[in-house]
Amino acid sequence: MKILIIGYGSIGKRHTNNLLNIDNLEIIVCSKNKESFKLIKKGVKIFTSFEDALKEKPDVSIICNETSFHIDTAIKLAKINSHLFIEKPLSHSLDDMNKLLKIIKQKKLITMVGCNMRFHDGIKSIKKFLDNNELGQIFSVIAENGSYMPDWHPGENYQISYASNKKLGGGVVLTQIHEIDYLCWFFGKVSNVSSVSGKLSDLQLDVEDFSSSILKFKNNIIAELHLDYYQKPAVRTCKIMGKKGKIIWNYENNYLQIFKNSTKKFSTKLIDKKFDRNKMYVEELKYFLNCVKKKKNCMNSVVEAYEIQKVAFAMKNSSITGKKISLK
Ligand SMILES: NC(=O)c1ccc[n+]([C@@H]2O[C@H](COP(=O)([O-])OP(=O)(O)OC[C@H]3O[C@@H](n4cnc5c(N)ncnc54)[C@H](OP(=O)(O)O)[C@@H]3O)[C@@H](O)[C@H]2O)c1
Repeated sequence: MKILIIGYGSIGKRHTNNLLNIDNLEIIVCSKNKESFKLIKKGVKIFTSFEDALKEKPDVSIICNETSFHIDTAIKLAKINSHLFIEKPLSHSLDDMNKLLKIIKQKKLITMVGCNMRFHDGIKSIKKFLDNNELGQIFSVIAENGSYMPDWHPGENYQISYASNKKLGGGVVLTQIHEIDYLCWFFGKVSNVSSVSGKLSDLQLDVEDFSSSILKFKNNIIAELHLDYYQKPAVRTCKIMGKKGKIIWNYENNYLQIFKNSTKKFSTKLIDKKFDRNKMYVEELKYFLNCVKKKKNCMNSVVEAYEIQKVAFAMKNSSITGKKISLK
């Protein structure tokens, strides 16, 4: 299988390294980053021009460039029949989304948008608990993801990162779409959204670094979602409250607790004391490649991710207009 990775930044490097550990792949990287040339001795073909890389006609493409280039890149690759893995978020706008969806449908392409948290042991366990109805009816959920953004890539200038720049598709809502993604995976479609967002800290950004939202799901579950770029130390948690008890997940300390009203006890399920963050990215790629091989639809296809993207845009829209935004 011929596989093309577009962009050799932080996530492009991660996916390339993970693919190098999978057998029977012909790997091509398209990047302007000179560091990518080091891959030649590992048998990787490097292109600095996207047009030249397209001529290779890859079976599969992994799109890892800045968010605002995802759709344009995806359309060009879809036209040459390449199956698509697109890093999250799908895009910075709804422009050309229908054009991409049309080509994907016409050419019956397998697609997936990055949703690595669905491969995290904690999030996977919560999904299982919910699917097994262990908490009974779910009433509400509180999810939080806050971290000091300049600490994400020490040694790099955070001001030039896509996450800091509106024109590259940054901002905390789109960059941390992970939380919206797993909430929709757990609870289904969102009915309406009320949100406040803004630039509160003194970080040098032209995007929002804070977002607080109430998401009402079609099944009446209410989620309170807090996202920020400035919290030290980082916090990433999710608490789900149901008729029979509650689940508390903590990413930073890597634990999952379940409280059962019937026993009045917490049971703590330590997920993995030596948490290996890369494991979820490895599982995610293997899952995608397996779907491509078996010609099976993936979870979080472009069609599904588009719906999740609409929730993110509704949050932004609600903050601008001061109104509750309904979703179809
Ligand atoms: N799923 C996840 O957990 C996750 C994590 C991170 C990012 N992402 C997503 O992936 C996309 C890219 O994010 P990223 O964090 O990988 O961004 P990044 O590190 O800033 O890389 C983005 C682009 O910048 C260029 N670049 C990076 N380092 C460079 C260097 N030293 N010299 C020259 N050019 C360099 C690369 O383009 P060229 O290769 O063409 O030069 C690269 O494609 C975004 O949409 C983001 O939301 C997802």
